[in-house]
Amino acid sequence: MSREPSQRLKSKDQISTEDDVRYFDELYQGQLDWTASTRKHLYRQMDLFHAEQVLEVGSGTGAILREIHTINPRARLFGLDRNLVALEYSQKKATDETLILGDATLLPFSSQSFDIVVCHYFLMWIEDPITTLREIMRVTRFGGWIACLAEPDYGGRLDFPDSEIWKDLLLNSLSAADPFIGRKLRTYFYQVGLKAHVGLQSVVLPSDTVNNLYEAELAKLERFISPENNIKLKKLTEFFKTHKTEELFSFMPVFYALAHRTE
Ligand SMILES: C[S@@+](CC[C@H](N)C(=O)[O-])C[C@H]1O[C@@H](n2cnc3c(N)ncnc32)[C@H](O)[C@@H]1O
Repeated sequence: MSREPSQRLKSKDQISTEDDVRYFDELYQGQLDWTASTRKHLYRQMDLFHAEQVLEVGSGTGAILREIHTINPRARLFGLDRNLVALEYSQKKATDETLILGDATLLPFSSQSFDIVVCHYFLMWIEDPITTLREIMRVTRFGGWIACLAEPDYGGRLDFPDSEIWKDLLLNSLSAADPFIGRKLRTYFYQVGLKAHVGLQSVVLPSDTVNNLYEAELAKLERFISPENNIKLKKLTEFFKTHKTEELFSFMPVFYALAHRTE
């Protein structure tokens, strides 16, 4: 499912103020924890430790850039994002990466500039993933690597209690271009001429984590859903209270794609 541009990016999803940027940075850091082991594996595959020039497209508040810096402090790191407030926040926390305000569909770099180009929770927000991937491929050198480190697929989420209401509200809360991007990574890479290794990191969480997660998610839903869904949210919250922590279950499919640019 993709949506009309006019239906997309509700103001609540935009980072506009200092409060927003802190809120979203915390959110992004949380997402980082979920998929840490897969990223470690992908960094090894790409030989990140020896890369000289690395770009993150859609670098947001800089969470991934900071992680990459700790792994390979010698690499020249670049982050590109179209949100100035996020970039300014990233700059304050930055080590010595170069941050650029720009659009992913027209990257301001010469062809074959980078050994590695990554993105993380990014393609789901993009209206035109094919043009974006073509640009990413153009700026990656022959023999370099392209990695979507994590892209979720909300349609594949399973929860107890009450999967369907969760899914319904989650989808309503998101103004992403494509909340089902995960399952499409392989075809998008294929369409730009890249042979990707696509994998699934199934995040099944232990029940105490799920309990915290649900509390955080209920608060998040309250912020992001449209008012006509408040009754559903209330019902879900009540239902949730009638179950013990030990009964809770959550499965969130998060996909990755890794490709070597051979030509
Ligand atoms: C969910 S955030 C992820 C941030 C970061 N990758 C992380 O995981 O911490 C997605 C980011 O993509 C940026 N973005 C969306 N569309 C973009 C575009 N066309 N060009 C550049 N950045 C874009 C947004 O501004 C936002 O900062």
